[in-house]
Amino acid sequence: MKTILTGDRPTGRLHLGHYFGSVENRVKLQNDYDTYILIADVQALTDNFNNPEKVRKSVYNLALDYLGCGIDPKQSHIYIQSLIPEVAELTVYFSNLVTVPRLYRNPTTKHELLQKKEVFGESGEGITYGFLGYPVSQAADIACVNSNLVPVGEDQLPHIEQTREILRKFNNIYGETFNIPEPVLSTSPRIKGLDGNEKMSKSLNNCIYLSDDADTITKKVMTAVTDPDKIRKDDPANPDKCMVYYYHKLIRNKDVDTVCEECKKGERGCVYCKKELARAIIEFLKPIQERRKYYEDRPEEVEKILKEGTLATKRKAEEVMKKVRKNMNLDYFE
Ligand code: TRP
Ligand code: SF4
Repeated sequence: MKTILTGDRPTGRLHLGHYFGSVENRVKLQNDYDTYILIADVQALTDNFNNPEKVRKSVYNLALDYLGCGIDPKQSHIYIQSLIPEVAELTVYFSNLVTVPRLYRNPTTKHELLQKKEVFGESGEGITYGFLGYPVSQAADIACVNSNLVPVGEDQLPHIEQTREILRKFNNIYGETFNIPEPVLSTSPRIKGLDGNEKMSKSLNNCIYLSDDADTITKKVMTAVTDPDKIRKDDPANPDKCMVYYYHKLIRNKDVDTVCEECKKGERGCVYCKKELARAIIEFLKPIQERRKYYEDRPEEVEKILKEGTLATKRKAEEVMKKVRKNMNLDYFE
């Protein structure tokens, strides 16, 4: 059976962008692959090193979001990155195989650096060794379970490309050791925000979280950007210029064709349309939230799932590292 590794940084709750961009895809894939889902607390610390409580709290919330979405602990190993020391070891070996200028060129790292001015300075001059190097540690996450596939959102593609480069180089120097992993994008790898921004993102404050309650969802949907040329209720409009329509499509509202037609003909008011969308999103999230609540009420069960997932990952990583040390001539007392 082929192996999947993927995961997220625990820095807050998951939103619809995560769900449609990647998590939904993982839920499907877990049936057919040996699946490892990492909660990347070490990586989260690279830009939250001065806020460890936030990371700690988010680990648990991320686990609840995963379980709510249908990541099945019987099929997938959900694990905590910091509890796998093999990843730290492999990161050190990999760090010889990537140049510092190459790390600086990674567009995702660059972008995040400038989003984090309060940590790294106005123009990123305070960048740390740890933050610059996190894609190396991400390569180690993937390599530690010798993964074949990595289902992620579009923003992660530069990291997977960098992983592939590092692993190819490793195989060339030390002999065939690792699979060269492939990224797997979902059908909608990047989800726009309610404000029409290209990306739904916490820092842009344009998200609907999977755990938002009905009132919050309704309030947020009311702020969504619609076709600016539609002024009156019965003006015809272009749904393709409207985030409300975009979300009707995204959550696969069965009435989406009616929405489109009525909007074009001027037979639909935006307030009504938004209320309908809010209801549809609430309905869509209901089973996710119910499952999340089940686990929220059973913290011991969640802890057991994380412990078992971590143990299974550690076993796999130990096996991979045996081969790594042997191929690198580091198997001293074997
Ligand atoms: N970089 C990912 C994020 O920001 C998290 C992550 C860490 C990851 N290691 C990974 C994703 C390995 C896929 C594979 O959410
Ligand atoms: Fe958007 Fe609906 Fe208004 Fe059309 S009627 S512009 S789809 S909110």
